[in-house]
Amino acid sequence: MQPVLLNDFKRQWSEIGAEVLRAVEGVGASGWYVLGEQVKRFESDLATFWGLSEAIGVASGLDALEIAFRVLDLRCGDRVLTTPLSAFATTMAIVRLGGVPVYCDTDANGLLDLDRAESILAADPGIRFLLPVHLFGQSLDLDRLAGLQERFNLWMVEDCAQSIGAEWAGRATGSVGRLAATSFYPTKNLGAIGDGGAVLTNDAELAARVRRLRDYGQSAKYRHDEIGWNSRLDELQAAILAEAVLPRLRDWTRRRQEVAAAYTVGIQNPSVRVLRPPTGSTSCEHLFPVTVANREHFEAHLKTRGIATGRHYPILIPDQEAMVGTKFEVRGELERARELAGSEVSLPIHPQLRAEEIDRVITAVNEWSLPD
Ligand SMILES: Cc1ncc(COP(=O)(O)O)c(C=O)c1O
Repeated sequence: MQPVLLNDFKRQWSEIGAEVLRAVEGVGASGWYVLGEQVKRFESDLATFWGLSEAIGVASGLDALEIAFRVLDLRCGDRVLTTPLSAFATTMAIVRLGGVPVYCDTDANGLLDLDRAESILAADPGIRFLLPVHLFGQSLDLDRLAGLQERFNLWMVEDCAQSIGAEWAGRATGSVGRLAATSFYPTKNLGAIGDGGAVLTNDAELAARVRRLRDYGQSAKYRHDEIGWNSRLDELQAAILAEAVLPRLRDWTRRRQEVAAAYTVGIQNPSVRVLRPPTGSTSCEHLFPVTVANREHFEAHLKTRGIATGRHYPILIPDQEAMVGTKFEVRGELERARELAGSEVSLPIHPQLRAEEIDRVITAVNEWSLPD
């Protein structure tokens, strides 16, 4: 029995390998390997795809978040309202700058609870920064995010690592914050063959500062205006993304949406709750999360059918060992987030998934029953 994988990189390679090799050849032959024409071209293509005026390639999604907050002058001790349920990098970006994450519970879908966020911000005008995450490929309500930003005079960076191509009422995620950050980690919808990330914005001044900061804070060769990073997307990854991956992204997203639609219709097991995006949110279907009362049993059942599963995320960020001794605040109970951390299972979803594999997943999920 062929396993059904969470991501099938070998199958992806058979689809894009020839173009990747051509892109590599082009970079090699150009003799220019860092911050050259390939990065410029990819940044321009990505900005056009996203509908924003500026995209700046960096070394990872983590760096994109960190540099974005530095550009907004996040200082040591500044508090940032954010979610306890995300990749650890979301919080790491805050902490590495000396900021203090303030956690608020999620909604039933695992995204930041905007009602609670609003009450917290109303009660504590000292919180000036907001870091929402469009988790699983679902978009948070962008109108509400924009409203919070304006009402409370916030500096907001949207974490779009999982949401490239996702929309709220026709608007792209990442378009309401001062800046957006995304990741090209291989499992992402726009995945490189290695690490990479980007900061996006409509603000030319902020973009110029991001460009400086990613390259040692240089404004001209050997002229350093501020302490920056070495966080440059390299020419190889930029060429691969521009030639082999980005041109496929719309079709791949559509394919993910077809898989999600098939799962949504096909999964009819009352013991399995499917986390679908709310009305208004068009998901780019980065992950397909469900929740069950007995996760280990469900995962073991799928494993016997040769179906891989993931957990996003099994430990809440404030519960991580690394947070012991790190300054953070928790506002209210993190009840929903905690429940999701204990019950969420991600089913395989990727553009190379075949029809018979989708059927296998649906059948296996429907044939599972909770043990007595
Ligand atoms: C929501 C979220 N934020 C940030 C990151 C960090 O991206 P990277 O792995 O490229 O540093 C990731 C990816 O792991 C992510 O899923």
